[in-house]
Amino acid sequence: MARIKIDTARRTGTIDRNIYGGFIEHLGRCIYGGIYEEGSSLSDEHGFRKDVMEAVKGLHPPILRWPGGNFVSGYRWTDGIGPVEQRPARLELAWHSVENNHFGTDEFMRYCEVMNIEPYICVNMGTGTMDEARDWVEYCNGTGDTYWANLRRQNGHPEPYNVKYWGLGNEMYGQWQIGHLSAEDYVKKAREFAKVMKWTDPSIKLVGCGQNGWNDWDQTVIEGLAPLMDYYSLHLYTGSDDYYSNVLAPALVDFALETCQAMIERARFNQKLDHPIHIAYDEWNVWFRQRSAESALEERYDLADALAVSSYLNSFVRHSDTVKMANLAQMVNVIAPIFTSKEDLFLQTIYHPLRIYEEQMQEVTLDAYVDCKQLTLTEDQEKSRWPQSIASLGPFKVLDVSVTSDQQGHELAIAVVNRDQEEDHTTTIQFADPTTISQGRIYQVNATDPNTSNSFEHPDAVTVQERQLELADGNLTYTFPAHSLTVLRLHAE
Ligand code: AHR
Repeated sequence: MARIKIDTARRTGTIDRNIYGGFIEHLGRCIYGGIYEEGSSLSDEHGFRKDVMEAVKGLHPPILRWPGGNFVSGYRWTDGIGPVEQRPARLELAWHSVENNHFGTDEFMRYCEVMNIEPYICVNMGTGTMDEARDWVEYCNGTGDTYWANLRRQNGHPEPYNVKYWGLGNEMYGQWQIGHLSAEDYVKKAREFAKVMKWTDPSIKLVGCGQNGWNDWDQTVIEGLAPLMDYYSLHLYTGSDDYYSNVLAPALVDFALETCQAMIERARFNQKLDHPIHIAYDEWNVWFRQRSAESALEERYDLADALAVSSYLNSFVRHSDTVKMANLAQMVNVIAPIFTSKEDLFLQTIYHPLRIYEEQMQEVTLDAYVDCKQLTLTEDQEKSRWPQSIASLGPFKVLDVSVTSDQQGHELAIAVVNRDQEEDHTTTIQFADPTTISQGRIYQVNATDPNTSNSFEHPDAVTVQERQLELADGNLTYTFPAHSLTVLRLHAE
């Protein structure tokens, strides 16, 4: 029998709810035809799709990153303000599409406002200049009698938007990026951007552009930018048709966070820096099917992908002391939990773990001892569309676990991904101190086949089953079904 042992006194950190953040990019049908659809009977007076808003509300994303992604490296933000009919349509080179600029800064801000979401803007460090970046900060946050602040007022927004989070470019290390840079050149350029942006508004928080968290780029950028940044961003996409390669790949998140955190601490120590630098996992997801820019880039997710997403979340929870923001890439259509047509939408499989974690996981993270079957994955067995290999990170525990509690230690949430494709695992849950569980609820995501997907025809093929936990005196034993996510919510005395 497997065993999860919990000591409610062994607190490892506090969850920043920004780990449940989202990301929208001018890519495919994410914005146009996703969150924003002019002229649709499903849209409100601002052009926002009301059905999509409802689905987004179910996930309560506290923060939203925009406008890219690769798109931002060629984006002229000034094209997207002022009267809509006068905004220029541009050929944009990241995804080879036409950007009509109908959704710009003021529309993004309005969306965040009506949805009660904190905005996070990534600036253009590809074709964009320092001036454009500082002007954008001034347009959003300026309070004085200055050109850009006045233009915002003229555009109908007397009050500053107070955008707190600003990203210093997107994936500037990549050959695919417009204006890509070496790590050394990025540091030089980002320092200057950071300086003028902070001089424009000293209260903003800057996010440096990281890679995977274990690369030479990361080492150089962390050393070079540490004095000026508040967050360091990481990106990770994983995924495979091979079940185990898919569900075990998020082990890379633990590796990335631990490696990257060590680099950050080294830089802070050597440079005698007092301010914290947190990790912002500002793009992450399963993404391996729709990879070519010519395709619609519209990934359809199955149950195995939902389990991988759950393991990403487990890793963020386990590292709550270091990862203080994470933004699922992306929110609608493209590579996202919500999928629309002109008339309808359905929730993809990955929507359900996102919702359960956001709703059920508590504030305080707890260390847990897990004793269970181990899985190995050899280099030969591993199949991934991505270059990074996970085989060397094994063996992997078949039960991937994270545990949280409220501040008082009475409300517990235990998230368990049983990654075994075939076998259920009966598990005893033990507590270090005498503990009585008086109530329990189960939230489970499962299906007969890990390849099961949702669709317009079968929107609930994979959904959440919720029920009461039957408690036998003194003993908490639960059988986690094969290829499932289970969150146990317990009231403990
Ligand atoms: O999220 C899709 C793309 O993936 C983003 O534009 C880019 O930053 C990443 O490579």
